[in-house]
Amino acid sequence: MRAVVMEAFGAPEQAVLKDLPAPVPGPGEVVVRTRAAGVNYPDLLVVEGKYQHKPPLPFTPGKELAGEIVSVGAGVDQWKPGDRVMAQVEYGAFAEDVLAGADQCFALPDGMAFTDAAAMGLVYQTAWFALLDRGGFKPGETVLVLGATGGVGMAALQLVKALGGTALAGVTTMSKADAARAAGADHIIDLSGEDLRDGLRDQVYAVTDAKGADVCIDPLGGDPFDAAMRALAWCGRMVVVGFAAGRIPVIKANYLLVKNIAVSGLQWSDYRDRTPARMAEAQAEIFRLHTEGKLKANVMATYPLEDMADALAVIRDRKVVGKVVLEV
Ligand SMILES: NC(=O)c1ccc[n+]([C@@H]2O[C@H](COP(=O)([O-])OP(=O)(O)OC[C@H]3O[C@@H](n4cnc5c(N)ncnc54)[C@H](OP(=O)(O)O)[C@@H]3O)[C@@H](O)[C@H]2O)c1
Repeated sequence: MRAVVMEAFGAPEQAVLKDLPAPVPGPGEVVVRTRAAGVNYPDLLVVEGKYQHKPPLPFTPGKELAGEIVSVGAGVDQWKPGDRVMAQVEYGAFAEDVLAGADQCFALPDGMAFTDAAAMGLVYQTAWFALLDRGGFKPGETVLVLGATGGVGMAALQLVKALGGTALAGVTTMSKADAARAAGADHIIDLSGEDLRDGLRDQVYAVTDAKGADVCIDPLGGDPFDAAMRALAWCGRMVVVGFAAGRIPVIKANYLLVKNIAVSGLQWSDYRDRTPARMAEAQAEIFRLHTEGKLKANVMATYPLEDMADALAVIRDRKVVGKVVLEV
């Protein structure tokens, strides 16, 4: 079977396509024949050797895929060959056959396209737990989503709307603002201005009767994080998801005291590994909302497996709007 292989950490362009032996499932494992694989910002970090968990070399990147189960290992009774699933792995998804834990597979609703399913795992799960678990979001609240045109951001915007909130989309590249509106944003918050520190709060106050945002989902860090802290409402919740803007922010504790603000972090892979049953419940809800037409996979482009470097370049070069997916 063919797989993308990185012989060393470095630029995605160093990846090669290789023929590898087909995997055999061990106890509790399944093999999934890949039809589509979601490409994520963390894949870029893994490939470049900048991710917190570095795979042993050589390795196949990729954290999620959708396809059909072809074989099951000992003790696996919830899946059988032919079942259509989305599956998550630490790495290895950019291959024709992928070994996955049986508890890391999620049944696809009838009729759901593999490409859509591959785009509705990691980023939706991240947005789900950021919003509902760490952010304590309740219907009727206002959520400021930074990085709103990226994978996590667009998923968060859609979830806020599907779950009955008001969505403020923080957008840096303003030519992408229409995509945020299409994902359901009630208001666009322009993050590209010179005076972000006051400008962000002024814009949020203008659309919330000077109340501020109840929750902020932040995949950016840096200056947008600092500015967003000042735009939170009384008892607001800031959820740290990532640092795409490049700087890990430092928090002044007096901000927390003065407005009763809570700051929490969100690590998606911990929910995946420590609470697979909760992850399965969340994914079933995400797929149910998709079936009901309340969520839409945000696939901007698809690439063949051998063009992984082009797909990752879209993310690296900040051209991404929603998700890119590899089709196998
Ligand atoms: N904690 C977790 O478990 C978890 C899970 C998934 C992702 N993440 C992290 O969350 C962040 C976003 O992930 P994603 O999948 O949404 O990424 P993505 O699809 O590449 O989107 C990133 C978004 O950030 C915006 N952005 C603003 N300033 C940026 C800058 N200086 N550099 C790059 N992008 C910038 C981009 O919009 P503009 O083009 O408009 O600027 C883009 O919409 C990443 O840091 C990722 O590692 C964390």
